[in-house]
Amino acid sequence: MTQLPDIDMKRIQKKRIVLHQRRFKLFLTAGEIRKIVVSVASKINKDYRLKEPCLIPVLNGSFLFAADLVRELNIQAEVAFVKKSSYSGTRSAGKVRGLLGLNQDIRGRHVIVIEDIVDSGRTLVAVLKDLRRHHPASIRVAALLFKPGAYRQKEKIHYVGRRIPDDFVVGYGLDFDGLGRNLRSIYMLDLRK
Ligand code: IMP
Ligand code: MG
Repeated sequence: MTQLPDIDMKRIQKKRIVLHQRRFKLFLTAGEIRKIVVSVASKINKDYRLKEPCLIPVLNGSFLFAADLVRELNIQAEVAFVKKSSYSGTRSAGKVRGLLGLNQDIRGRHVIVIEDIVDSGRTLVAVLKDLRRHHPASIRVAALLFKPGAYRQKEKIHYVGRRIPDDFVVGYGLDFDGLGRNLRSIYMLDLRK
């Protein structure tokens, strides 16, 4: 069998990166993200021990968070991805496009919506509205990142991985116009000229 080379953390965890000619600086390392994910998972493990929740990650941004989170769960759980997107460039576009892909029967189920990031909260509100039409027994929200300074809604976010300033971030599933989702760390837009 061929030997795979060790992952070169220095090479993949750069301090600064450039995407679409914009500069970003390291904000959360892969190790820091891992600790956040483990802490969210341990709360869910405790709260849902006998509830067999249905986790609903919102694509595209939450695919890595969801993948890492579910592997830290030691409870019975189902996973069903949905898709909804309101972003274009580095600013929330305002309009939320339609929900795709819920082919799971969530009536009477305990649902946990998994979000990569909650910014204005428009996407979250639209997702919750759609999901409530299916009459789940309960709905909670787990978000890796939360921008309290940008949030404009009343919906509670039960599990917040990390509160962050109202600045644009990229990496670990989050994109900047399609790029950066594959980064292991999270980077913040560097506004200095
Ligand atoms: P909201 O509807 O304004 O809360 O935006 C939520 C969605 O926009 C998230 O699910 C992300 O996909 C995307 N988003 C919000 N803030 C950022 C960011 O800082 N970087 C990348 N994507 C973001
Ligand atoms: Mg996005």
